[in-house]
Amino acid sequence: MMDRLNGPPPLMIVSDLDFTMVDHEDPENLSLLRFNSLWEAYHRQFSLLVYSTGRSPTIYKQLRKEKPLLTPDITIMSVGTEIAYGESMVPDSDWEQCLNPNWDKDIIIQETAKFPQLIPQSDTEQRPHKVSFFLETPNSSEVIKALSERLEKYKLDVKIIYSNGTALDVLPKGAGKGQALAYLLRKFKANGRTPLNSLVCGDSGNDAELFTIPEVYGVMVSNAQEELLQWHAENAKNNPNIIHSSERCASGIIQAIGKFSLGPNVSPRDIKDFGKCRVNVFSPGYEVVKFYLFYERWRRAEVEKSDQNFENLKSSFYPLGTFVHPCGTEQPMKKCTDTMERLYGDKQGKQYQIWLDRVSTSQIGSDSWLVKFDKWESTGEERYCCLTTVLLTTKQAEESFTWMHIHQTWLDGLEAKEPSVWFL
Ligand code: GLC
Ligand code: MG
Repeated sequence: MMDRLNGPPPLMIVSDLDFTMVDHEDPENLSLLRFNSLWEAYHRQFSLLVYSTGRSPTIYKQLRKEKPLLTPDITIMSVGTEIAYGESMVPDSDWEQCLNPNWDKDIIIQETAKFPQLIPQSDTEQRPHKVSFFLETPNSSEVIKALSERLEKYKLDVKIIYSNGTALDVLPKGAGKGQALAYLLRKFKANGRTPLNSLVCGDSGNDAELFTIPEVYGVMVSNAQEELLQWHAENAKNNPNIIHSSERCASGIIQAIGKFSLGPNVSPRDIKDFGKCRVNVFSPGYEVVKFYLFYERWRRAEVEKSDQNFENLKSSFYPLGTFVHPCGTEQPMKKCTDTMERLYGDKQGKQYQIWLDRVSTSQIGSDSWLVKFDKWESTGEERYCCLTTVLLTTKQAEESFTWMHIHQTWLDGLEAKEPSVWFL
């Protein structure tokens, strides 16, 4: 993962998932898709995306199947007790080793069993360094107090975290989302890769620790839980680097990027007409994000089917270039533009969405680039994904790219049964 970066990342975002990155009240995932296109167009290449979730690996992977979540560089799971790197999620066993001293899961299970108010969570959520329960709010603080007094007798180094007014986790004292982040920052420092800026994002009790790490910016999203707001009022009220956004979830994260001037903060998804757009961004990553947004709108008939729009599209494809469809057939680019014309509006009124993940660019000549990314597309419940490689060139005088060649292959398990439903 760090090989991708040549130096310190300009920005590291460390975000909680449920009700922070993911808005479970937004069935169309609009704010998440806004974040995705912002991240992939401008930040992916040099910056770091870190998720920090209470979920175990099992239900984290489930969430990734349900929601259009980008692939993070690092995944911190089970309330900061498990850290994994990269796409393949290589576990950090050193971190788990660190959590062993003075941790005795058996004693915790034995002692918590004496509290009838504590209802054990599912087996997937019981982890080597995390024991989790449900606990209803009314007298939760008394239960927590009594439990911690009882555990103190055993001289174990544990901490109890209460989140969402429903969940209680018992963890090693050295664990938690804050400690896991501090550990990562120490590792980066040792490699001379400390991010220039870090932004932590959260909504509930187990996120509070993230806001205690020195020198990070923080955003509590507008929909943050009472327990987090109260913690903030009591502990961090005067810290100007922490805001309570006025927008929900991922939109609140975008708001914080702007507020703290942490880099580009206009999501390409918010640009309704790229032709009229005055921000002239010349970057291959931005180019592919922009194209696929246009393409989504074209098929949903949300852009006008004007000659102008169609000419722009045509002129960005090199007619003699080749497109290799994921099922293996080849066609000239010219045919792509014809198909495209025909597909105008075929997804009108449907929940048709496109997002790109893992956009990476390499310059291969003075005027040519290879851009590689996962192109996702969903219509309601169906979801497909192709690893996509595009060869882009530019003419010095023109501030635009030409698409010379496109090659797609299905990502394992995400192929369309009927290949004709996939076009580009
Ligand atoms: C997630 C986990 C759960 C934990 C809660 C609060 O929902 O699945 O086990 O108790 O976060 O940290
Ligand atoms: Mg949350």
